Amino acid sequence: MTRRGARLSRMEFTEVVRRRRMIRHYSDEPISPDAIERILASALRAPSAGFSQGWAFLALTTPEDRARFWTFIPTRVEQTPTMQLAPLVIVPLAHKATYLERYAEADKGWEDRAEARWPAPYWFIDTGMASLLMLLTAVDEGLDACFFGIQPDQLGPFRAEFGIPDDYAPLGGITVGHRAPDTPPQADAVEKRRRLAESVVHRGHFGVHA
Ligand SMILES: Cc1cc2nc3c(=O)[nH]c(=O)nc-3n(C[C@H](O)[C@H](O)[C@H](O)COP(=O)(O)O)c2cc1C
Repeated sequence: MTRRGARLSRMEFTEVVRRRRMIRHYSDEPISPDAIERILASALRAPSAGFSQGWAFLALTTPEDRARFWTFIPTRVEQTPTMQLAPLVIVPLAHKATYLERYAEADKGWEDRAEARWPAPYWFIDTGMASLLMLLTAVDEGLDACFFGIQPDQLGPFRAEFGIPDDYAPLGGITVGHRAPDTPPQADAVEKRRRLAESVVHRGHFGVHA
């Protein structure tokens, strides 16, 4: 990516996009506090409807805090235990009320704050966009990351443990760290399942692919 001829990225943007994979196996190699701050800062550059920015990010960087987190993710602990070694866990939180209030302002005019007005729940969309920016920034930093869900039955206890208010919705967790040297390569089956443009891109009319 260039502007006025100056390089902005350490890695070609297309390379960042291509390299990004969900990595579920980590070593315990630390990551620098500066990298952590750059990853978090990039979330704040995400677009948001009405520039509402109805998001929050729980960042867990100490072994103690991360240990408290992993008790709520039994599936990943069981299936991919080295995820717990990742030195950074971020939980993106979506805040619907910020959107309802922002769109009740004069320039938007949805004073009834009715959810039916929303073509899609932009609070989830925007927090998802912020999450993707963090995943991509991790790759740009030479790190690996994974987005994963928190199962519904764990959400209540998780919220209580970390003091998350009821009106903030956790989207999932994001691990960031260095992949373990023995991380299994991506299975061929995964790449074979990637949908091709000719099946998902509709050109000019739905159903037209050529
Ligand atoms: C909204 C969302 C939820 C996901 N939930 C999980 C999850 O709970 N556990 C997991 O291991 N991976 C999860 N993933 C990762 C996907 O499985 C992964 O993105 C997909 O298989 C494609 O692989 P890639 O991202 O490495 O290209 C999730 C991804 C997204 C975007």
